[in-house]
Amino acid sequence: MNILGIETSCDETAAAVVHNGRDILSNIVASSLKEHQKYGGIIPEIASRRQMLLIHSVVERALKKANVKIDHISAIAVTISPGLIGSLLVGISFARALAFALAKPLIEVDHIQAHLYANFLQPRQPKLPAVGLVVSGGHSSLFYLKTFNRFELLGQTRDDAAGEAFDKVARILNLGYPGGPVIDRLAQKGKNAEIRFRCAELSDSSDFSFSGIKTAVLYHARNTKSPLAVEKIAYAFQKSVVATLVSKSIDACRKKKAKTLLVGGGVAANSALRKEFAEAARNQDIQVFYPPLALCLDNAAMIAGLAYHRVGEKEIK
Ligand code: KG4
Ligand code: ZN
Repeated sequence: MNILGIETSCDETAAAVVHNGRDILSNIVASSLKEHQKYGGIIPEIASRRQMLLIHSVVERALKKANVKIDHISAIAVTISPGLIGSLLVGISFARALAFALAKPLIEVDHIQAHLYANFLQPRQPKLPAVGLVVSGGHSSLFYLKTFNRFELLGQTRDDAAGEAFDKVARILNLGYPGGPVIDRLAQKGKNAEIRFRCAELSDSSDFSFSGIKTAVLYHARNTKSPLAVEKIAYAFQKSVVATLVSKSIDACRKKKAKTLLVGGGVAANSALRKEFAEAARNQDIQVFYPPLALCLDNAAMIAGLAYHRVGEKEIK
């Protein structure tokens, strides 16, 4: 069964064709990131206008690349939430009209759950049940997954998302947008024990809080003039965020007796996070999974993939 997935929740316009929830036949992502960079963050109006212009050609490219005729698509899947409302509307309206015109089922998919599903779009297949950590620019959530249709929310951020904290700290340090990749790179040269930041612990809870550490970085940076300090600050900030994400996730695995940990979202690309998870998981006999780098970021393959498990369940005609 071939499913056409459409994803327009943030700045990307994405379409993909996935066979039987596993094989990616095509995965097209058009990003408007460059147009937002000078503002230091995503401007919703710019994003949705770009998506209006791009959606048709992106879907056509996905079908062409997959070498699948539109009549041979079994269902259309679309991101329903969360996301920017104008952007979501572009994808949902397009998918609805297409499903109606072709008389095919339309399957709504949750964007955050799909980020975790991206782990199943690779040869090494995770085993369920699992704990799932989604860390991106818009979300930081911990889930317990028994099946692809049962996602239990264990905790989430009470303020900023992890990626948002990276982006805001990068802004404080004048490093541009998005902040994650550049902080990741600078931190590798800034190892030190002089500067320490701490994330709020929120003990006994699987919730996160990242807004306090961003303010701590702001005050520290204001009082430091040395250019070398940027690398050290990046290191100390990243170390603390990573430590929180790792310890909350491993705790959740322990509580739920899960031996599989799935990580998803843009921050899953972080090198320190991967290193720390590898070490903690080895000690606890837990298997950690990440999607391939391109599938950590927003894409439509994860939407089409998860939708395969929802066929016949929640269809909107
Ligand atoms: O999943 P994604 O494309 O966006 C949302 O769905 O929100 O992730 C983008 C986020 C940005 O906040 C970016 O700074 C962060 O992921 N990110 C990283 C890294 N690469 C991207 N954060 C930390 N380290 C990285 N290497
Ligand atoms: Zn996302």
